[in-house]
Amino acid sequence: MSECITVHLKSKPIYDILFENNFNALPGKLSELGFSGRRVCIVTDSNVEKLYLEEVKGLLEAADDAFLCVKSYVIPAGEEHKTLDEIRKLYVYLIEEHFDRHDLLIALGGGVIGDMTGFAAATFLRGIDFVQVPTTLLAQTDSSIGGKTGVDLDGYKNMIGAFKMPILVYSNLSTLKTLDGRQFAAGFAEIMKHGLLKDEEFYMWLVEHNYEITDRDLDTLTEMLLRSCDIKRVIVEKDPTEKGDRALLNLGHTLGHAIEKYKMPELLHGECVALGCIAAAFISWKRDLISMEDFYEIRDMFVPFGLPISADELDIDRIIEIAHSDKKNDGNFVRFILLKKIGKAFIESDITDDEMRAALEELNFNEDD
Ligand code: GLY
Repeated sequence: MSECITVHLKSKPIYDILFENNFNALPGKLSELGFSGRRVCIVTDSNVEKLYLEEVKGLLEAADDAFLCVKSYVIPAGEEHKTLDEIRKLYVYLIEEHFDRHDLLIALGGGVIGDMTGFAAATFLRGIDFVQVPTTLLAQTDSSIGGKTGVDLDGYKNMIGAFKMPILVYSNLSTLKTLDGRQFAAGFAEIMKHGLLKDEEFYMWLVEHNYEITDRDLDTLTEMLLRSCDIKRVIVEKDPTEKGDRALLNLGHTLGHAIEKYKMPELLHGECVALGCIAAAFISWKRDLISMEDFYEIRDMFVPFGLPISADELDIDRIIEIAHSDKKNDGNFVRFILLKKIGKAFIESDITDDEMRAALEELNFNEDD
């Protein structure tokens, strides 16, 4: 298997997203991109280090067109380490190892590592190249594509960041075979989101292939990722810096982010995106945009994929307050993505606190329900 999607900007090809089932082709691709003879630093976290660092480093060290050196840098695993202080330590390491503007960073890991490495690449020496090698479903379908990079600040997610396109995304789908079940489901929420916001046929395909997807059949996962990444490609090509329609990708993120911050670290990002999509669908139903049947179908279809449709002990007023402080809002308005139908989302800026309250009450698990 070797599939490729090319991301263009202003009709110019910018980078390839490769879908492979091992890491073997990575050194050759980097040589093709002109990095033979350069320094390479693989940035990873303490979990992924144990799984894939030795293999990827070994392949790069054994490459025919040798690199000047292959270094690695390990960040402690977890969203709580997605900080400017960890970026500062990485800068110091790169300075001590004499990295210059022509060298390369490789992000080997999930969304946190991709965002942090991309942010370091955007800012170190005013910008050096970087490659995304995503090893989680969430990173392969979402965070590695489109050039959003950044870190959290005092618990505010991705508050500091930059747009920085990778020069290559190299997805080894065999990493999904061993991915923890909860992480797999959380990544799947972003895929469901892509179907919900842009492509009803793909959404129905996901529902119909529930068994093959949860069984992690490699051919099904390949088709799923190709279709999901292509939806994102079309959106980010038209609006790379989120001046308009790229905001549609934030379906489920307004209340999703707020719940995530409120519950930190209990729920994973993708689990909160699933809850946020249900909240968006609920408000869409209450505004007579979609039917009650559509709302319950959207909600219930998260269940067979192992995603939550409710959460307990939600402090609704506090979550609404957090939603108001999100960086994606326009001034005082909370920016929401609603659904006109399955496969058609739009941006709405006049969502009231009462509407958010009703949606959160629908999500709030109650023993009497
Ligand atoms: N994850 C949303 C975006 O890339 O715009």
